[in-house]
Parts: sequence; structure tokens; C-alpha cells
Amino acid sequence: MEFTRVDHPLVQDKLRMLRDAKTPPKEFRALLADVSVLLAYEALRDLPWERTEVTTPIGPAEALRFAHGQPVLVPILRAGLGMVDGILRLLPEAAVGHVGLYRDHATHQPVEYYRNLPADVAARDVLLLDPMLATGGSAVAALGLLKAAGVRSIRLVCLVAAPEGVAAVGKAHPDVPMFGAALDSHLNQDAYIVPGLGDAGDRLYGTL
Ligand code: PRP
Ligand code: URA
Repeated sequence: MEFTRVDHPLVQDKLRMLRDAKTPPKEFRALLADVSVLLAYEALRDLPWERTEVTTPIGPAEALRFAHGQPVLVPILRAGLGMVDGILRLLPEAAVGHVGLYRDHATHQPVEYYRNLPADVAARDVLLLDPMLATGGSAVAALGLLKAAGVRSIRLVCLVAAPEGVAAVGKAHPDVPMFGAALDSHLNQDAYIVPGLGDAGDRLYGTL
């Protein structure tokens, strides 16, 4: 499945400020929350809908609604948490599952340390949230555990992706569409995205 780059100027302007090394955590958090809404808006475009009817003060009107209710949000901790509150403004009834993964500094392999998913997650559409898609190891692992839980309809929403990450997710999970604001050049020797924006978790939470 391909990577959709959301090229709206509003998204790209916020990405510019998020990339800027001078942007402090307070602004970084606000920008990530806002841009996540715009990315989710694109990712939700082709979610299954069903027809229904609503009664206006004047009379009946045809309407649409999500076929499976509002999608479940699943942030990958820590940095994915920075995308949740903005998207919850858009989808206030969405349940939120959590997956805790960190990259081992030496091997760059993901290590799982937490998992909590809604009981009915298999019957729902899921937005998997992580601003950074670098080697793709974390996203591939998270998608694997969501599928093991029975989830069939998943969209991956990130902010910045590397070609290596897009290829890894495309190979392991070809059914999962990916959305993001940028597809960057490559990974450096520490598996950081170039030019990227640095360590998203550290920039969000001031742990640099
Ligand atoms: C970052 C980021 C992704 C992962 C991406 O998390 O938020 O989860 O790295 O890298 P990958 O595609 O190579 O797996 P990190 O492991 O730094 O954990 P943190 O969010 O807790 O800082
Ligand atoms: N994780 C990050 O936070 N940034 C990168 O560039 C790569 C992985």
C-alpha cells in the first residue's frame, strides 16, 4: 500500500515549525496536536460509511455515519501520545488503545513494554499513530500485534517517514495505507530520519 503525502500548505507550514530545532516543547506539542488533526482528516477520507437518516427541525434528511462507529486511536508511546488529543477533538467518542514500544539504542529494534487495547478492537477501524516512521520496526511490530488482536482495518498516520520505513511497512503489511506530511531522504547511521526533526519523544517532553 502506498504512502500518501498530505501536501496541504497548512500541514507543510506546521511541519516547517516542527522541524525547526529552535521550537521548544510547549510549541512542539501544540503544533503536533494541530497537524495530527489535519493528517487524520485525510486518513479518514475512505473509512467505511453507511447511509442513515436524521430529522432536522424542518423534516427528514439523508445522512452518513461511520459504519463501525468512530475509529479507535492507537498511539505508539511515547511520541504517538502527542497526536491523540488533537484527533480526539475531531473524534470525541473514539476509544484510545496504547502500545508502548521503544527502540533499543544499539540494535534499533523495537522492544514492547506496554499494551492496552479496547476489548472490541477487532470489530473497529483503527488509526495507528506515531509521528516518526524511521526503520519501520516499531510500526511493523505494532501492526503485527493489532492484527494478532484481530484488527483488520488499520491506517497508519505519521508525520515524517523515511523511505526505509515505508518499504518495511509496505512489505510486512501491504494492506495498511500510510499517511504523513513528508517522505524524507534517508536514515543516518543512528537510524534517525534525515533531515527529519530529531527525536520526537524528546522534543515533545523536553527530555533532550
Ligand atoms: C521513536 C518514534 C517511533 C520510533 C520510530 O520512538 O516515536 O516509535 O522511534 O523508529 P523506527 O521506525 O525505526 O522503529 P522511540 O523508540 O525513540 O521511543 P520514544 O517515543 O519513547 O522516545
Ligand atoms: N525516532 C525519532 O524520534 N526520530 C527519528 O528520526 C527516528 C526515530
